[in-house]
Amino acid sequence: MRRVILAPGADLDGFRRAARALVTESVAPDDVVFEDDGTASLLPEAQIAEAPPLALPKTVPPIVKDVAMHRDPERWALLYALIWRVANGERRLPEIVADPLMHRLHIMRRNIGRDIHKMHAFVRFRKVEGAEPERFAAWFEPEHHILRAVGPFFRDRFGAMLWSIHTPDGSILWDRERLAYGPPGRPEDAPAHDGFEEGWREYYGAIFNPARVNPTAMRAEMPKKYWKNLPEAELIPDLVRGAASRVGGMMDREPTRPTKREPRAALAALDAGARPRTLDELAAMIRAYEPPQDFSPKAVIGEGPVAPLIAFVGEQPGDVEDLEGRPFVGPAGRLLAKALGEVGIDRDACYVTNAVKHFKFVARGKRRIHQKPSLGEIKHYRWWLMEELTLVRPRLTVALGATALTALAGEAMPLMRSRGPARFETNGLVLPGFVTVHPSWLLRLPDEDAKAAGYESFLRDLAAAKDEAQRLAG
Ligand code: URA
Repeated sequence: MRRVILAPGADLDGFRRAARALVTESVAPDDVVFEDDGTASLLPEAQIAEAPPLALPKTVPPIVKDVAMHRDPERWALLYALIWRVANGERRLPEIVADPLMHRLHIMRRNIGRDIHKMHAFVRFRKVEGAEPERFAAWFEPEHHILRAVGPFFRDRFGAMLWSIHTPDGSILWDRERLAYGPPGRPEDAPAHDGFEEGWREYYGAIFNPARVNPTAMRAEMPKKYWKNLPEAELIPDLVRGAASRVGGMMDREPTRPTKREPRAALAALDAGARPRTLDELAAMIRAYEPPQDFSPKAVIGEGPVAPLIAFVGEQPGDVEDLEGRPFVGPAGRLLAKALGEVGIDRDACYVTNAVKHFKFVARGKRRIHQKPSLGEIKHYRWWLMEELTLVRPRLTVALGATALTALAGEAMPLMRSRGPARFETNGLVLPGFVTVHPSWLLRLPDEDAKAAGYESFLRDLAAAKDEAQRLAG
């Protein structure tokens, strides 16, 4: 077995050199592994000798060039299989779309084309405050290794400006003469706001037509993950919500039983009219449920005493919570614990849970990036949450952030305008409530002043919630 090490990303030159040598030495695809992620392997690295270029049909190089940008770690093995088969007599292979290998490569090329298109459309430059001469920067997270493919587009479009685009994989810099590619960046490398934002928002709000809104099509064209870079996108949730209410499309106020994908045993119990009698029974039902693919299979169940003064409801477990199997034990949990300590609430005396019981994420290399649950997903978990709170019987239920508020209220509500005392009602269950922000929102605030002010207001909310809970407890 030969082991070929390539540079991380789209190491096209390294791959071409290796493919030439391997084909020349008659090394079959099954006898070679390609590595580009630094994972340790027991095999020694193969020596790649210089070999003459291969005579391939002209349809092959464009496929190799595109697929090399894909993030799938299998891309090099697939491309080598293509080259091997073509070099060994299947010269028409690239034209056979029904061949499983060609089909897969074709889909990968399409993914790359889409990713390039999205990056062209959704990069937003922001003016770097105080920079002399005037300079603009943008933060963007492409799905694939497409930086070198998009550089010329931005050079041609914004040739008169000085600009840089920062991504987790690398950066592009334009100095009005030359494109340069630099090291990976961080979101802080580009300002989060500038003076143009207001104009964008006004413009977008003015042209928005609720009668024409189709959130599914809108998300397909402008996927949610890009919204955070678009000043105009802040309006979208409110605009979409407003449009939905006009056509009476609000979520059902009643708690809905999980409708799809429930475990059979739990469903059978529900069909027979059974409700979980204890938190353990409820936990067993939740654990038996297999969530969809973009969720971790591990359920993180609420914890704490029954009949507490306060139950806190968060959004969903994060990466750390998923690994440890307990709610609020990661960075947001630590901030929550600190704030509770400061206002004199004993965290161990509270019940802590989440609206959604599984971690939703996209894998980015070795990292798992948190994804917000959709309205449908929140609704799907709502029946369990309400059963849980019925069994827990807190004096006061505190919604931490928008997802918890949606889950408890049964419909999407504006978080900031709902902040403060609330009352959640469902099927005869009345829960005195309180709404505040999510601690992870505080962690994401852009600067220290905003963080300090946000934290102060969070403390005030928690203190008010504590007073309210004590009042209710008499
Ligand atoms: N954020 C949440 O909403 N819940 C957790 O458990 C952790 C982070």
